[in-house]
Amino acid sequence: MMNDAFLKVCRGEKVDYTPVWLMRQAGRYLPQYQAVRQNVDFLTLCKTPELAAEVTLQPVDILGVDAAIVFSDILIPLEAMGVPLEFSEREGPVISEPVRSETAVDCLIIPDTKQDMPFILDTIRILREKLKDKVPLIGFSGAPFTLATYMIEGGSSKIFLHTKKMMFQNRKVFDYLMEKLTRTVISHLSSQIRAGAQAVQLFDTWAGMLAPVDYREFALPYVKIVVSEVKKDRVPIIYFVNNCAGVLRVIKESGADVIGIDWRIDMADAIEILGGDTVVQGNLDPCALLLSKEEIEERVKDILRKGEGAKGHILNLGHGILPETPVENVITMVEAVHKYGKKV
Ligand code: CP3
Repeated sequence: MMNDAFLKVCRGEKVDYTPVWLMRQAGRYLPQYQAVRQNVDFLTLCKTPELAAEVTLQPVDILGVDAAIVFSDILIPLEAMGVPLEFSEREGPVISEPVRSETAVDCLIIPDTKQDMPFILDTIRILREKLKDKVPLIGFSGAPFTLATYMIEGGSSKIFLHTKKMMFQNRKVFDYLMEKLTRTVISHLSSQIRAGAQAVQLFDTWAGMLAPVDYREFALPYVKIVVSEVKKDRVPIIYFVNNCAGVLRVIKESGADVIGIDWRIDMADAIEILGGDTVVQGNLDPCALLLSKEEIEERVKDILRKGEGAKGHILNLGHGILPETPVENVITMVEAVHKYGKKV
């Protein structure tokens, strides 16, 4: 039988213990991931279903987490939209032709996941079979605003000047781009759900870089559309914004089933802002996994205690796990959640 604690908490149901998974749980901190990655580049790994499924399963078996997240990347759909994408070892994602004009947005295709990204659906099908007696599978997408920043900036950024320039000086083009991204995200998520994803997470990594007024105006409306469309498919949707503290009050309006919290805000404060009728996910600092075993346990206990104030709590990191993380510390964290998060 599948362990369904994670799905139950997503739905707001009672469970015997607090479930845990980690953002970026498949990755370079695992020697077993490095071994697979040695022979293929990152994009090839994402596009080879047998290998993508293999690395998805690694943290489930090694760490004993309560959910698996399909191995892919939020930027995969950008390529399918017609925007060439590369991953450089040093710089991360590189988009050599940033999208900054109406003509560029005109050229963007709304991809059909089945036709243009069949590998992710094949990966999901393999995984559902392999995870039958284990844990649920999470599908995901980048949120429209975060995807827009990569397209407009041409990669990662610190201040998002080009994005804000388009928002403030060329609103028509920005809206046009966001509409195309929103349609892409909806179709990408519902294809993953049809292939077998049992929950989905929307990653809005950079939306916390917006002033609250701008978040409400330029990011939230599109998230609301995605959430209401995904809800028709009847699977839970988790919405994660990194640096969420300043916009948490507004995030509540997204309608998502679960709200992801980063570590820069105390979990008790986050729950107070959201209200006790919310299901939350988070929020251990990824760097806390560099602490001693005892200190990791203390931090876990603290977050578990604070999570009791919410309608439901899924323990997770406040952002992705870092490549420098010792695997035994991650195991300590997962064991601590299962040990101290028991409700009976
Ligand atoms: O969580 C998982 O285990 C599933 C796989 C997953 C990856 N990326 C694999 C990955 C998921 C859910 C993501 C999401 C993602 N990708 C986000 C949102 C979450 C976040 O971290 O904020 C973002 C912003 C990206 C874009 C991205 N992908 C960047 C900026 C980078 C380079 C930085 C880095 O960490 O290397 C990536 C590469 C990437 N995505 C790797 C992995 C395992 C490392 C690639 C490698 O093996 O070299």
